Amino acid sequence: MPKPAGRAIAPPKGKLGVMLVGLGAVSTTFIAGVENVRRGGGLPIGSLTQMGTIRLGKRTDRRSPKIKDFVPLAGVADLVFAAWDPIPDDAYTAARKAGVLEPHHLEPIGAFLKGIKPLPAAFDQNYVKRLHGTNVKRAKTKRELAEQLRADIRHFKQTGGVDRVVMIWAASTEVFLTPGPAHQSVAALEQAMECNDPAIAPSMLYAYAALMEDVPFANGAPNLTVDIPALERLAEERKLTIGGKDFKTGQTMMKTVLAPAFKARMLGLAGWYSTNILGNRDGEVLDDPESFKTKEESKLGVLEYILQPDQYPELYGNVFHKVRINYYPPRGDNKEGWDNIDIFGWLGYPMQIKVDFLCRDSILAAPIVLDLALFFDLAQRARLSGIQEWLSFYFKSPQTAPGLYPEHDLFIQQTKLKNTLRWLMGEEQITHLGIEYYEQA
Ligand SMILES: NC(=O)c1ccc[n+]([C@@H]2O[C@H](COP(=O)([O-])OP(=O)(O)OC[C@H]3O[C@@H](n4cnc5c(N)ncnc54)[C@H](O)[C@@H]3O)[C@@H](O)[C@H]2O)c1
Repeated sequence: MPKPAGRAIAPPKGKLGVMLVGLGAVSTTFIAGVENVRRGGGLPIGSLTQMGTIRLGKRTDRRSPKIKDFVPLAGVADLVFAAWDPIPDDAYTAARKAGVLEPHHLEPIGAFLKGIKPLPAAFDQNYVKRLHGTNVKRAKTKRELAEQLRADIRHFKQTGGVDRVVMIWAASTEVFLTPGPAHQSVAALEQAMECNDPAIAPSMLYAYAALMEDVPFANGAPNLTVDIPALERLAEERKLTIGGKDFKTGQTMMKTVLAPAFKARMLGLAGWYSTNILGNRDGEVLDDPESFKTKEESKLGVLEYILQPDQYPELYGNVFHKVRINYYPPRGDNKEGWDNIDIFGWLGYPMQIKVDFLCRDSILAAPIVLDLALFFDLAQRARLSGIQEWLSFYFKSPQTAPGLYPEHDLFIQQTKLKNTLRWLMGEEQITHLGIEYYEQA
């Protein structure tokens, strides 16, 4: 068979700027982690781009390069950081307050972290009730705020020594919003920004500013943000990559591994009770019912799509699914996520599974931020515009084209991601059929 063509990809020359919205626990753990990796102070564990391999060709070919050697990704040495935050702490102070990384990972890079000072944020307390910020932009209209963000991006491009920029939302979860008339077209969005329509959340201003400055945008929180027709269209028109929502890290990652296993074995599910205790600032923000509602929607969606109750009413037609997040300061960033899962088997006999995941939220999120920065930059250089569904692997609530349901199964997502990389590089897709090994024999 002739080799597939592959895709023209511009080489990753020069520096890649990563503009982070929010300089809290996730962002500082990501930045400090990258700097430690660059100085040989630790391994980028959890990062598929840095640690993962990809099988090419037949199993007997024994070709499994590292992903970073297979696709032309920017290197970690080439990343340059900038951030916005309404809290004026520099990255060192913010990392110390977040309490995720220990002094031996922060002190040797103290001067580097102190050099990353947050730009004033486009912040509005109506959208994150539990935060009080002083480092904020002032403007008469939301449109003006977006213009100020655009100026920040241009300034970073000019002074940061960067050739390309990606933007990632790693800021607090905003209150729950549903798509409305203001979100349906670019003209309606711009008009709504002019007249300070409450339907326009700060996160939309960042996404709009990014797209107007030719910067790809990824959304790590469950906010609506770029998941609206207006910004999807803007990304298409301007040939830019976008995607979200909500980093898939702890409890939901486990859910999207376990639920497909039950379905694969045709085991029934009666109920799934998930609760969390969490003591960081994210936990405090999520203690507000309106921000929690945004998170709850994102966490609840996965079972419905994986289990397909319409197709399997006897197994999944009556699932009781509950998700709670409880703010509990003593634990800080070290979240505990409990799951009680009531399943049933042969003739309906009930069984239970308990999962108690003592995780570290930002330790799980940081490598996802790295991979998204590198893959969004790759996608942009490959001229893949609009929603990047192949990066669903990283999101709790993946954005899809209108009319498509999201794929949540972690291993289908992984297969899709790797097949996309093979396709980009002109390698055969791996179907897992494997009959040729036996027919030849
Ligand atoms: N850690 C995880 O496992 C995980 C998983 C999925 C999603 N997330 C999401 O990632 C986000 C960041 O989490 P975190 O633990 O770093 O939270 P955090 O509270 O430590 O940091 C968020 C930062 O965003 C800032 N912020 C709020 N509104 C802003 C705005 N309009 N502009 C700029 N900055 C703003 C806050 O001041 C804060 O410093 C949260 O929305 C969280 O829900 C985290």
